[in-house]
Amino acid sequence: VSFPPQPDRPISARSQSPIGVFDSGLGGLTVVRELMQAMPAEDVVYLADTARVPYGIKSLETVRRFARQDAAFLMGFDPKVLVVACNTASAAGYEDLRDRLDLPVVDVIRPGVRAALRAVDGPVGVIATEATVDSGAYQREIAARDPGRVVHACCCPLLVPIVEEGRDDDDPIVLSVLCDYLGPLQRARVEAIILGCTHYPLLAGPIAKLMGPDVRLINSGQAAALEVQAELCSNALSDPRDRSGRLTCFTTDKPDRFARLAERFGGRRPHSVDFVGTDELEVRARPGM
Ligand code: DGL
Repeated sequence: VSFPPQPDRPISARSQSPIGVFDSGLGGLTVVRELMQAMPAEDVVYLADTARVPYGIKSLETVRRFARQDAAFLMGFDPKVLVVACNTASAAGYEDLRDRLDLPVVDVIRPGVRAALRAVDGPVGVIATEATVDSGAYQREIAARDPGRVVHACCCPLLVPIVEEGRDDDDPIVLSVLCDYLGPLQRARVEAIILGCTHYPLLAGPIAKLMGPDVRLINSGQAAALEVQAELCSNALSDPRDRSGRLTCFTTDKPDRFARLAERFGGRRPHSVDFVGTDELEVRARPGM
């Protein structure tokens, strides 16, 4: 994909560009929550590909193609950094985007892995979508940083719909599904669990309760937000204005549903939610593909 050239602007103006964030749907707002908490002055433009969600059961080739299209759309806002908030899109498309784009790209897998390896010395559990686990992205990243580290990766396909449905933490269905998924990690005596999917921070309460106080839960969005903050600081790109940043959202389907559920995921109401068709995303990504 060849994206529009970056305008040559002074650093002060560039620092006022937004952070571009994309995800397959609502879940990436848990990452936006962390970004806006760590960097309240920053504007965020968020794309939710709700027409094509879930990414977590699709092939890596398909998710990589969607990720290119999502990124191409956000490039139209001239972001100063691009955040791949979706763990599945990070697994499938991070290297591809990093190599193609002329701006810093931050994903959620690598920061989460670094945080987990810093937090504990023993076995690490990863819970994520089927596509993320099967991609081996977490296993490879952990092995590259600490070859001897034992990793247990489990896919938990029921958790995304359970979270979207908004069931309470102590709902028997939530607890019995979690018991089933977390059993192997308990038996493996993992010392940390990477919440390797956008939706899972919303289940942190019951997961912590089931795993007990000695198991550290790693929120990938929080780890990614710290990385974005460090990236902006070291390049003098932090927004210096004393203000609250704007959250501008686009969705490829059902903007009304997105607007209704957004606050539960992102902790704030978006300033705007507008529709953009997947046909438009495809057209924007077309040149040079
Ligand atoms: N955003 C996805 C992830 O973090 C979860 C939802 C989906 O499968 O698209 O992997």
